[in-house]
Amino acid sequence: MGGQRVIEETEESMKSKTSLVFAINGERFELELSSLDPSTTLIDFLRNKTPFKSVKLGCGEGGCGACVVLLSKYDPLLEKVDDFTVSSCLTLLCSIDGCSITTSEGLGNSRAGFHAVHERIAGFHATQCGFCTPGMSVSMFSALLNADKSSPPRSGYSNLTAAEAEKAVAGNLCRCTGYRPLVDACKSFSADVDIEDLGFNSFCKKGENRDDVLGRLPCYDHTSSQVICTFPEFLKNEIKIDMSLDPRKYRWSRPVSASELQGLLEVENGLAVKLVAGNTSTGYYKEEKQRKYDRFFDIRRIPELTVVRRGDKGIELGAAVTISKAIEALREKEDVSMLAKLASHMEKIASRFVRNTGTIGGNIVMAQRKQFPSDLTTILVAARATVKIMSVGSGQEQFTLEEFLQQPPLEAKSVLLSVEIPSWRPVTKKKNGSSSPDTRLLFETYRAAPRPLGNALAFLNAAFSAEVSLSEASDSIFVHDCLLAFGAYGTKHAHRARKVEDFLTGKVITDEVLMEAIGLLKDEIVPDKGTSNAGYRSSLAVTFLFEFFGSLTQTNAKTTNGWLNGGCKEIESLKPEAMLSSAQQIVENQEYSPVGKGIVKSGACLQASGEAVYVDDIPSPENCLYGAFIYSTMPLARIKGIRFKENRVPEGVLGIITYKDIPKDGQNVGTKGFFTPDLLFAEDITLCVGQIIGLLVAESQKLADVATNLVVIDYDTEDLEPPILTVEEAVQKSSFFSVPPPLRGKPVGDITKGMAEAEHKILGSKISFGSQYFFYMETQTALAVPDEDNCMVVYSSTQAPEFVHRTIAGCLGVPEHNVRVITRRVGGGFGGKVMKSMPVAAACALAASKMQRPVRTYMNRKTDMITTGGRHPMKVTYSVGFKANGKITALDIEVLLDAGISEDVSPLMPSGIQGALMKYDWGALSFDVKVCKTNTVSRTAVRAPGDVQGSYIGEAIIEKVASYLSADVDEIRKVNLHTYESLGLFHNAKAGESPEYTLPLLWDKLAEFSGFNQRRKVVEEFNASNKWRKRGISRVPAVYGVSMRLTPGRVSVLSDGSVVVEVPGIEIGQGLWTKVKQMAAYSLGLIQCGTTSDELLEKIRVIQADTLSLVQGSVTGGSTSSEASSEAVRICCDGLVKRLLPVNAALVEQTGGPVTWETLISQAYQQSINMAVSSTYLPDMSTGAYLNYGVAASEVEVNVLTGETTVLRTDIIYDCGKSLNPAVDLGQIEGAFVQGLGFFMLEEYLMNSDGLIVTDSTWTYKIPTVDTIPRQFNVEIINSGHHKNRVLSSKASGEPPLLLASSVHCAVRAAVKEAKRQILTWSSNQQGIDLSFDLPVPATMPVVKEFCGLDVVEKYLEWKIQQRMNI
Ligand SMILES: Cc1cc2nc3c(=O)[nH]c(=O)nc-3n(C[C@H](O)[C@H](O)[C@H](O)COP(=O)(O)OP(=O)(O)OC[C@H]3O[C@@H](n4cnc5c(N)ncnc54)[C@H](O)[C@@H]3O)c2cc1C
Ligand code: FES
Ligand code: FES
Repeated sequence: MGGQRVIEETEESMKSKTSLVFAINGERFELELSSLDPSTTLIDFLRNKTPFKSVKLGCGEGGCGACVVLLSKYDPLLEKVDDFTVSSCLTLLCSIDGCSITTSEGLGNSRAGFHAVHERIAGFHATQCGFCTPGMSVSMFSALLNADKSSPPRSGYSNLTAAEAEKAVAGNLCRCTGYRPLVDACKSFSADVDIEDLGFNSFCKKGENRDDVLGRLPCYDHTSSQVICTFPEFLKNEIKIDMSLDPRKYRWSRPVSASELQGLLEVENGLAVKLVAGNTSTGYYKEEKQRKYDRFFDIRRIPELTVVRRGDKGIELGAAVTISKAIEALREKEDVSMLAKLASHMEKIASRFVRNTGTIGGNIVMAQRKQFPSDLTTILVAARATVKIMSVGSGQEQFTLEEFLQQPPLEAKSVLLSVEIPSWRPVTKKKNGSSSPDTRLLFETYRAAPRPLGNALAFLNAAFSAEVSLSEASDSIFVHDCLLAFGAYGTKHAHRARKVEDFLTGKVITDEVLMEAIGLLKDEIVPDKGTSNAGYRSSLAVTFLFEFFGSLTQTNAKTTNGWLNGGCKEIESLKPEAMLSSAQQIVENQEYSPVGKGIVKSGACLQASGEAVYVDDIPSPENCLYGAFIYSTMPLARIKGIRFKENRVPEGVLGIITYKDIPKDGQNVGTKGFFTPDLLFAEDITLCVGQIIGLLVAESQKLADVATNLVVIDYDTEDLEPPILTVEEAVQKSSFFSVPPPLRGKPVGDITKGMAEAEHKILGSKISFGSQYFFYMETQTALAVPDEDNCMVVYSSTQAPEFVHRTIAGCLGVPEHNVRVITRRVGGGFGGKVMKSMPVAAACALAASKMQRPVRTYMNRKTDMITTGGRHPMKVTYSVGFKANGKITALDIEVLLDAGISEDVSPLMPSGIQGALMKYDWGALSFDVKVCKTNTVSRTAVRAPGDVQGSYIGEAIIEKVASYLSADVDEIRKVNLHTYESLGLFHNAKAGESPEYTLPLLWDKLAEFSGFNQRRKVVEEFNASNKWRKRGISRVPAVYGVSMRLTPGRVSVLSDGSVVVEVPGIEIGQGLWTKVKQMAAYSLGLIQCGTTSDELLEKIRVIQADTLSLVQGSVTGGSTSSEASSEAVRICCDGLVKRLLPVNAALVEQTGGPVTWETLISQAYQQSINMAVSSTYLPDMSTGAYLNYGVAASEVEVNVLTGETTVLRTDIIYDCGKSLNPAVDLGQIEGAFVQGLGFFMLEEYLMNSDGLIVTDSTWTYKIPTVDTIPRQFNVEIINSGHHKNRVLSSKASGEPPLLLASSVHCAVRAAVKEAKRQILTWSSNQQGIDLSFDLPVPATMPVVKEFCGLDVVEKYLEWKIQQRMNI
């Protein structure tokens, strides 16, 4: 705490404030202002200066929610506490003066007892890696607390409705769980939910009595939230004495009136000053965090800026009113629909924890000064808002917001005081001056963004107002006046389409008029050059105009009644709003109990409370230094020099470690994995953008990160060949990595014969895939601590400690026994912490070795995204031959795989692609993969590497064949599913025995389980009767081969009977520890002493992986580590059981009855029996490799006008063999599916032409959120039965289900096809409409809209006009 906690108050401090006082989890903190850097964020303080590490850093830009805390403020006048969530990565420490902070460990913890939120998260199996969970817990707690504040809820429940529960975590990202269990945990508090309708949990079984269940649910007594006192009494007393901060003394001050602020701004000439409200803008303008300011003025206590004034003239909102408070204020005038619509739109800005501190003034100033793509300015321009500005020199002035936006950027010393939204009155007047009684005011706002509930910037937003009347003569709608504002589409500011406004004013709305208006609009709403998806954005403008006016063109009674009733959205309601729901069918298997039971994940509550320790939570050792990576920004260039800007070494920087620092006996090696080692640092020549050049070492992580921006690398490209940046260039230059023969694709059957048998052929068809980033919530991190005798202990967040170990030893040039790598848990891996963790740990170790001080790093999100690579992009060309019935006879396929600059695990890719592709019987298969070496960042394994693409290629081919034959695609799939015989031909021994091939069974069962065939009919009917919404439904199979690997283990029993288990498998969220514990309990239970297996479970602890304790640990990956580790443990336990059985028998004989485990162990100790067994599981070659099967059906709805896709329902049936823990497997299935959904629908990991990753933040890289998962998500795990030699008959679940997400993509394609068919019916010109199209991956909103037709509205109107002319 740096000695800053001062309890006593001196008389002096009573007069003028010299310090900040606040509370964290009820503890008082006082910090001397003079010693504070005002740019310190709350998260910096919490993580570095307090023991409260539950607050995690996931992005540092307000985009993930891992750092969310509850902030409570007390109003002494009203004696009221206001509690709300904030992102601690954007909140400045100084701004919490007088506030109280509650973190997840403050809600409850292992010592004081966990909170019901923690326990329900655990019981609903809603945590995997656990890195997001403390933030989730706080978001849920805050929602409950606020719901139950004003009126007490029913005992045991909360007032929070199920719908609100769904929104409670809408801004928090989770990469593991797929969100459904998190939402269920939150909904379990709601009174309007029947717990039976929630997903699988440890509290209730299907069909149980509701009251019994309630008794078992961790108690939620709404008063328990008061037990957690969010605002301690001592602080209430202190803040009653409100003292000012002397602005001359400190860099941070908080003026209390506009005039005081003005005075300060006038005086502070020449100094760099910053007005601070919520400080959330630094999430977007990250460079702001690094700018040096002389003075910070906190403007949130100035009454003129916090005013909310309602009057006849309108509503005035002070600029420092938060967006959340503004929403509340606008909602208070329920009768004014425009205000309610503004509020609804504002609810989609950012996420709740950003809106709670982000102010309307801050947003407007960001837009005005820096052209931020704001929603607020667009909707406020449409509402004809005005702003009040206070400037040094000119005093106070008022402008319309529109005028203000056009002005030069607001000066640093000018202040936006308030915004006024005028009351809405008709503009047109009757002749006598009163407003026309027949006019109606229409107001609507629009926004198209990748996430419906917000937390994503809009592609385009719009807000329109119009004053219209019914023209009785023509029974049509007459426009008296209108205002059309558009924004965020790649233009400087919110823009009014004045030409269109002028054109429409005074017109009767007809299709022809609308068509002409659209023509004008397209000339006016033109994104600036270089804006992404420009065509799409312009088309959205047309869409929204059409949505607004479209229904008013229909001159019939229905319409006119419609608008008279106040709505102009007469077009079919475009958004299915169904609540999330789910059903799981799980068979808990008692045979090997507790193996087979869905027990709660080990350490789940610790994860929820935030006490679980990740690498960056380990307190820094004394003298610790911090590293930040410097990477290349050139694809192929000579490094001439590395220096700092102005040749000045920034304060706190100790140096830059490069390859030149590698010790004499060491090697410049950054990875020692399966194949050729890779470099740690670029040497004289950098080989790709993103290649690591050095590790900058400084006294804090912040200093290190900031200083990397001051590093200048001088490059030179003279005499160098141009870089290879595409697979085509690699082919041209024969730049390939070789693939060992057993890993190359292998042909099946005779392709020439197969082609000859074909009745039809499709030749040279193409498919391409981009990349996908892991998006683990915990970025790459390591801590290296030098030890005696040239040894090094490294704490690494890795999936491959053994490889990290080897790499470090190689790099330092020391024997491997000088290195120890320890990994307790990993905050998400998804393959990204296999190879990519090695250079991170090695660089820290090298720096630590050189400086003889501990060195750690926690990579910032941007560096992580730029340097780690992600999934392999690929381009596929295929030719397929088939019969008239759709049976495929031959497939010839060539894949160009972009491996990037180094080999990594790329040689493993061909077998992955081919394995999953062979889910269908292709007749004969010819398969060739070229692993291209390009000057781009090295790609690596990402969950289901190669398999996900291979599986999708299969679907794309089937779809193509079905389109060619105009046949039902589901039929074509079925025709090409393997028989057991053909499965054996393609997969050889992996096919196993005939009863193991369960795919055909799953296929049929899914049809029944999901009502697939009936729903297909419903979808058809839906499509026939809806123009702007189209649905698609699709069912796909997945086959996924896995192989077990040699795996060691050790089980030791301590003298009190507690058991320690060591396995090399790393707990990355997949529940490995839980399965291992279950296996140990089952196996030790076979002794059948007086202690049951379930009781033994409580005595077992799986401990961190330590490479010196257990060697040959290899890698956690490939979906089989849990099984293999469990099996290793089973073998160890068998050894112990053998030793203990005679002891047990003797004791039973002596005592005449069963003996407890403790007695047994005590006796064994007395007899000096070795109570530790180490062993190794060596898989049987005949059964150690096997196939996994699953089937999914997804139904989607596509909004033809915006391209938005809603996944209405997904049903999955997955064969888990005999699940070791169905709760864990269910989590893996759902989580993998949702990650796959991201790959197929959302995530664009894009490079520029030099190979630099440009989607490098949460602003540009969009993983699924709670609002993008299937609205209904049903999963059935089947236990298909016994499998000889398999680990208690279990099967893998970590990766295979990811493949099933292609069902969503295929369903979207089906829906888009319907949209295209519809256009065909409208077009006389059928050119360019191809029904056998390939829909790209990912099918993002712009992609879907493009395929539905960017000009679909124009086509429709043209058709309508033509129709009328024909009559
Ligand atoms: C993750 C995330 C997602 C977001 N998504 C959206 C979105 O979808 N749509 C959208 O519209 N916005 C979005 N925003 C922007 C958000 O609304 C703004 O960050 C917020 O409103 C800014 O308010 P603030 O109080 O935090 O401003 P601050 O960060 O405190 O200030 C912003 C700037 O304005 C200056 N300033 C602040 N107040 C005044 C004043 N009264 N007079 C003069 N200068 C002032 C400050 O000096 C600073 O330069 C998002 C933000 C985040 C972090
Ligand atoms: S770390 Fe603060 S929101 Fe991501
Ligand atoms: S459990 Fe949510 S990110 Fe891992």
